Amino acid sequence: MTPRGNSRVCVFAVSFCLFSGVLTGFSSVTDRRQTVSLSGKWRLTNGNGSVSLPAEVPGCVHSALQQQGYIQDPYFRFNDVSYRWIAFDNWTYTTTFTASTQLRTKQKVQLVFDGVDTVATIWLNEIIVWKTDNMFRTYDFSVRDLLKDGDNELRVSFLSPVLYASERRKAHSAYRVPPECPPDVQKGECHVNFIRKEQSSFSWDWGPSFPTTGLWKDVRLEAFDVLQLLQVSSVPLYNSSLSQWRVQVELLVDAVQTTNGRITLSIAELDSEQTFQTQFLPGKTKNSFTLHINTSSQVKLWWPNGHGDQPVYHLAVGGFQDGFLILNTKSKVYFRTVELVQEPIVASPGLSFYFRINGKPVFLKGSNWIPAHSFQDQLTPAVLRNLLQSAVDASMNALRVWGGGVYEQDLFYSICDEMGIMVWQDFMFACAMYPTEDDFIQTVREEVIQQVQRLKSHPSIIIWSGNNENEAALATDWFSIPVSQRPLYLKDYVTLYVNNIRAIVQEEDQSRPFLVSSPTNGAESEQEGWVAANPYDPHYGDTHFYSYILDCWDWRNFPRTRFASEYGFQSWPSFSTLQPVSIKEDWSYTSNFTSHRQHHENGNQQMLLQAGLHFHLPNSTDNLKRFTDTLYITQVMQAQCVKTQTEFYRRSQSEIIEGKGHTMGALYWQLNDIWQAPSWSSIEFGGKWKMLHYFAQSFFAAVLPVGFEDDDTLFIYAVSDLSRDLKLRAVVTVYSWTDLDPVCTLKSDPLPVPGGSAAAIFKQPVAALLAGCGRCTRLTCLLTFHLEDSSGQQGPTNHHFLCSPKDAQGLQRPNITAEVQEDKTGYTVTLHSASVAPFVWLDVGNIPGRFSSNGFLMASRNRTVSFTAWRPTSVAELSRSLTVTSLRDVY
Ligand SMILES: *[C@@H]1O[C@H](CO)[C@@H](O)[C@H](O)[C@H]1NC(C)=O
Ligand SMILES: *[C@@H]1O[C@H](CO)[C@@H](O)[C@H](O)[C@H]1NC(C)=O
Ligand SMILES: *[C@@H]1O[C@H](CO)[C@@H](O)[C@H](O)[C@H]1NC(C)=O
Ligand SMILES: *[C@@H]1O[C@H](CO)[C@@H](O)[C@H](O)[C@H]1NC(C)=O
Ligand SMILES: *[C@@H]1O[C@H](CO)[C@@H](O)[C@H](O)[C@H]1NC(C)=O
Ligand SMILES: *[C@@H]1O[C@H](CO)[C@@H](O)[C@H](O)[C@H]1NC(C)=O
Ligand SMILES: *[C@@H]1O[C@H](CO)[C@@H](O)[C@H](O)[C@H]1NC(C)=O
Ligand SMILES: *[C@@H]1O[C@H](CO)[C@@H](O)[C@H](O)[C@H]1NC(C)=O
Repeated sequence: MTPRGNSRVCVFAVSFCLFSGVLTGFSSVTDRRQTVSLSGKWRLTNGNGSVSLPAEVPGCVHSALQQQGYIQDPYFRFNDVSYRWIAFDNWTYTTTFTASTQLRTKQKVQLVFDGVDTVATIWLNEIIVWKTDNMFRTYDFSVRDLLKDGDNELRVSFLSPVLYASERRKAHSAYRVPPECPPDVQKGECHVNFIRKEQSSFSWDWGPSFPTTGLWKDVRLEAFDVLQLLQVSSVPLYNSSLSQWRVQVELLVDAVQTTNGRITLSIAELDSEQTFQTQFLPGKTKNSFTLHINTSSQVKLWWPNGHGDQPVYHLAVGGFQDGFLILNTKSKVYFRTVELVQEPIVASPGLSFYFRINGKPVFLKGSNWIPAHSFQDQLTPAVLRNLLQSAVDASMNALRVWGGGVYEQDLFYSICDEMGIMVWQDFMFACAMYPTEDDFIQTVREEVIQQVQRLKSHPSIIIWSGNNENEAALATDWFSIPVSQRPLYLKDYVTLYVNNIRAIVQEEDQSRPFLVSSPTNGAESEQEGWVAANPYDPHYGDTHFYSYILDCWDWRNFPRTRFASEYGFQSWPSFSTLQPVSIKEDWSYTSNFTSHRQHHENGNQQMLLQAGLHFHLPNSTDNLKRFTDTLYITQVMQAQCVKTQTEFYRRSQSEIIEGKGHTMGALYWQLNDIWQAPSWSSIEFGGKWKMLHYFAQSFFAAVLPVGFEDDDTLFIYAVSDLSRDLKLRAVVTVYSWTDLDPVCTLKSDPLPVPGGSAAAIFKQPVAALLAGCGRCTRLTCLLTFHLEDSSGQQGPTNHHFLCSPKDAQGLQRPNITAEVQEDKTGYTVTLHSASVAPFVWLDVGNIPGRFSSNGFLMASRNRTVSFTAWRPTSVAELSRSLTVTSLRDVY
């Protein structure tokens, strides 16, 4: 109960008293607690003392070396290889601090490390306090009796992560734990699966090898006399038979001694308050309370982006002992339910696989998230926010935090909560087998407990998933494991992901589903002993699908899956992104630099082969233009490929064809980049949108027309993620490549399109359509189409090519001119074109910002787009920097 009418409640560490039970206005625990930050400037030395320099904490060795001018930008040219030595050396971080008498007379003083990367021995005043081996957990130690008057020295000695991984590999002599080493093309380090560290830091097929070392999060001392709140979590749970919400609140508390007290939980906006008599036992304990929401019918629900708002409630937690405030904190609460529905479907073998949020089936639209920087200390809140805003601005409602990176920082999930981005959260295991020695399991257990406790209050996280592709790796034998040894690996798999990770998650969090792997057959995999014969089976679970050889314009090449959690194509980033990390001699598609940055075997060739299926490849005699045109054509290819595939998934949501369909998710690989290099991303390192991201703005639109051919018949589907039903007709406009005036326009009869469905609303054989339109053939004409109802156009205008643009007859250089203007709302670019121009691409070089639309088909004489600059610029600067490229300009 909150003390009322009694002003005796005084708080020591803050200079005022509590009156009349007013709990709001406090933000921290107040048990005369003292926090001393040990972040800031430390000293950094290497193994033999030849390097010694100041280093920022939080930070890492690479960042410190760069900040002190000891090395260049690690991302520059071939520096990932030049600086390989850094990860082979041992590094020591040292700081000295004074511990006041006041601090040392506290009952308890904890030394807290929020993140240690990775294998280190921690010394305080020449005494070893701990050894660390896991980047993904926090460490804290009781140090009161080790502190002394005057200077105290704190030293963290790191062992080379590469050396450690290889030693652990050697110690694991009974059998190998593949993949041992990454492919040569990745220029990476070996045995990353033996160290609990960002798996992609030893290299990936889209990223460099920078095995970091350092204190990557804050370090501090926490001193207190009574107790210390380590973590508060609040998880709303809904009882549907009672139509009642309750909030499960957990307080992770470190108490000096047995402490009796009263805990008051309240959510003022919901008129809900409850008081509990409680006893905190000495040491670290988890204390659970349930706040019943008696006004459940008033609860406003959290919805994914595009489906509603994200209303937030505020939980206040107060703890009192003998009238003294011993604990005081707040937590945000968002109410939502999530179910992963796996049940039989009519006319289809297998099981459904979709998410129901607040009882409503929701199609997941989005992408996959990878670490946004090799050096996490250099990832700013602004960059994080901009990337997530970019996702939302492309109508995404979901991101998968992929299992080869890091559990993201709190801010990431808070922004996702606020923006309505659903997060599919992997545990950090990817594309490998893992050891299951006792100490490995123990450190993983602690990691999982801590991460689930830290993250479970976030409504954005809708599912936990044990690993990335490890079920598939085992099932389809990526690592050539002899049949006789298979049971051994299966046992390890089940031990790690099922018996440990799954068990912990289910114990800690009943508010969202757990999946063991991705891709997986889900419930069917479980039936088959957790590793299905074919985890890619489209009748079950989710799939990952990649093919660079098959024609991506042909939807028949894509699996009609229940849920596409990965698929994609590579492209190169723009020249302005590459320029700062390269020099003139690098600027050709055949340079050493260009092949060095490509970490996917044959990736550069695959992009051109795929592009060459439909486009003339750039062949300018000007080398630089040929290079930038080639970057452009890879982006055109990628945008068109991912568009085709995503549209196929979205239009497959309401159908079962040959036993397959009911697709309920499209998360392409991948949203963001870790450096300036070719990859599957739709956003370049630095935040610039690739053509794909502009395309995503359309292909993820809430209402979308999708056109495709089946057996020479043109179909147009209307896809709608809206809650309400629509009545839509398709409007098809036929253009000749030679003429900006349409040849003819066709309209279908309006048909009902229920909310949350895809429906065929137009069907006509292409030959008949063209014949009815007069002087058109597949080679001379193309189509645009949109949806409309009585109130006008619904959703974006889409297009359909009747032949490959390389075969098109009459496609001309459009000679587009552009004029930049400034008005009250910002900058605009007005384009004039002399002919139909596909894939019109505006680029303002290194002026950061984005266009309202880009990469579009220009089938009108004029078009105006706006440009939002992310720093001050001018009409003159924009005009100077602006280039306009369309398909016919590159050959
Ligand atoms: C110290 O270590 C660095 C980095 O490993 C190495 O380059 C250097 O030669 C070593 N110096 C001595 C004196 O051993
Ligand atoms: C790093 O420390 C390990 C363990 O003490 C040692 O074996 C190794 O030689 C050291 N490496 C360097 C470069 O100092
Ligand atoms: C919902 O409440 C009813 C009645 O108290 C109880 O029997 C049931 O177990 C609850 N369901 C859940 C899922 O908690
Ligand atoms: C709210 O509901 C709980 C559990 O149903 C009940 O114990 C409590 O008395 C109710 N509180 C109020 C203020 O109605
Ligand atoms: C490219 O790299 C190779 C191998 O490192 C080297 O022999 C060659 O000189 C380099 N070429 C250029 C143009 O730098
Ligand atoms: C664009 O300019 C070129 C060169 O002047 C000219 O040959 C071509 O016809 C122009 N294109 C159009 C569509 O007018
Ligand atoms: C296109 O822009 C030109 C030049 O500003 C103008 O003369 C013309 O009327 C515009 N055409 C259309 C269809 O808006
Ligand atoms: C470039 O390719 C086009 C299309 O194949 C061809 O017409 C043109 O002559 C080529 N130009 C050069 C400079 O090779």
